Amino acid sequence: MELIEKALAKARAQQEAARQTATSGSAETVMAPADAGPAPEVASFAEEVALADSPGRRTQATLDAIRYVRTRVQGVDQGHWLANRLVAANSTDKVADIFRILRTKVLIPMRENGWQTLAVVGATPAVGKTTIASNLAMSIALDANQSVLLVDADLRRPKVASYFGLNPEIGLGDVLAGSASLESALMNPGIERLVVLPSMGSLQNSTELLSSLRMQELLPELRNRYASRIVIFDLPPLLATGDTLAFLHNFDCALLVVENGRNTAEELLEAKRLLQGTNFIGWVLNKGDPGAVGGYYHYGATG
Ligand SMILES: Nc1ncnc2c1ncn2[C@@H]1O[C@H](COP(=O)(O)OP(=O)(O)OP(=O)(O)O)[C@@H](O)[C@H]1O
Ligand SMILES: [Mg+2]
Repeated sequence: MELIEKALAKARAQQEAARQTATSGSAETVMAPADAGPAPEVASFAEEVALADSPGRRTQATLDAIRYVRTRVQGVDQGHWLANRLVAANSTDKVADIFRILRTKVLIPMRENGWQTLAVVGATPAVGKTTIASNLAMSIALDANQSVLLVDADLRRPKVASYFGLNPEIGLGDVLAGSASLESALMNPGIERLVVLPSMGSLQNSTELLSSLRMQELLPELRNRYASRIVIFDLPPLLATGDTLAFLHNFDCALLVVENGRNTAEELLEAKRLLQGTNFIGWVLNKGDPGAVGGYYHYGATG
């Protein structure tokens, strides 16, 4: 059977299962079929099928059961991930434990407050925003009941795809420019429940794109379309460009990445000031105490 037909058959089965779940009243998230594609290295296109229920009958359970739309599934390359400091999927790595703790600290306030969108920000370049956002996304996806969308919203210096070893043909910039659909840009890096919306190249009109009407439309679309999904945004440096400021208030909450010994007090105060309209859930001290596990991360929940 063709891959797409298999995926459609699976989607129909999921649709039926979701209907039954909706009737029984318990919401359950059914994820993309792990068996939808052949072995790694083969990109497959699984069809995400919105449930064919009438709009009036849409329930939480049916919304949760919406599946990937033509999400490219990429093969896993653990070696590449580790070389790029993506360790959260490696159960034997002590730093993965650190991300499990960070995951819990982040998820508790998000779940308590019903927050779905998290901005991972930093005052300056190269503090580790992408590394933290990516590991956090992996770690949350590996938590059994939680699906995650990781959005590379750094249109000037996108790195998410390269850290995961993805080769996107379409990126967020294309979606914002109106030349591609959201569905066509989504990719699955080989971890169940994790979807990446990558960016490509280096777009000089990033501020315009990120503050565009399409971005304003896209944010609620990403949030509302998958009711149980956490959406993590990897953002450009707060102080380096105007890119982030234009739409910071659109996120439910923000996590500030601080580079140990490099970010000055002035930079951090300015970053905190810019985050005032956003729920600040904590900071991560990256590249920290050499004595800490992996010379890595500390988490603080207060400003
Ligand atoms: N804890 C760490 N220890 C050592 N190196 C690290 C650590 N975290 C990240 N790095 C490295 O620092 C570099 C910058 O990391 P990353 O790309 O995550 O930063 P960024 O803040 O997203 O940068 P940019 O502002 O360019 O988007 C990468 O080479 C990354 O592997
Ligand atoms: Mg980055």
